[in-house]
Amino acid sequence: MKKRIVFATGNANKMREIREIMQDMEVEILSMKEAGIEIDIVEDGKTFEENAAIKAKAIAQYTDDIVLADDSGLEIDYLNKEPGIYSARYMGEDTSYEVKCAELLRRLDGVEKAKRTARFVCAVAAVLPNKEVLTVRGTIEGYIGEKAAGENGFGYDPIFYVEEYGCSTAQLSREKKNEISHRGNALRAIKEELKRIGF
Ligand code: IMP
Repeated sequence: MKKRIVFATGNANKMREIREIMQDMEVEILSMKEAGIEIDIVEDGKTFEENAAIKAKAIAQYTDDIVLADDSGLEIDYLNKEPGIYSARYMGEDTSYEVKCAELLRRLDGVEKAKRTARFVCAVAAVLPNKEVLTVRGTIEGYIGEKAAGENGFGYDPIFYVEEYGCSTAQLSREKKNEISHRGNALRAIKEELKRIGF
């Protein structure tokens, strides 16, 4: 029987990305729903790693398959790494990203480029069949531009610029973004960890 991994997300884009990254492994990847698990999880950790582990451990109570979970966000250095682990909740969960991005641009108004450094961070936690927990972190470095640009991506992508490409991550193709993104990097790192332990 094919080995199985349950990925603790309800997000279809994340499911597509993890399946693309794990395609060279002989595993079946199921969403929480596909695994028949529907629970609400309170993410009250203080770091990305803690939140990812909280989610993965909560799901692992319901299955003996490997469980993966991720937690991600945007850290802006000038704002003491805000919005950080509160990225989704910044200004309220229901506030549009147009408004959230505009507010961050306003808070950086007049700040020179060298001080606008930022990164997307993604922690991925894995709970193994013996219930051991592994965590890895992926990042992508960039800066907050002077204005929002681009239609691709989601969340804070329109204001997050990557020096190497001279554009925002909302102006990159999905394939290119996955190749360089924090989540792509974290998923590739956890894949190597799983291979290392013989999964
Ligand atoms: P979560 O890890 O799915 O809870 O996402 C946290 C939040 O971080 C998202 O709602 C976005 O606001 C932000 N975020 C995480 N990754 C990205 C990204 O690749 N682009 C834009 N925003 C992101």
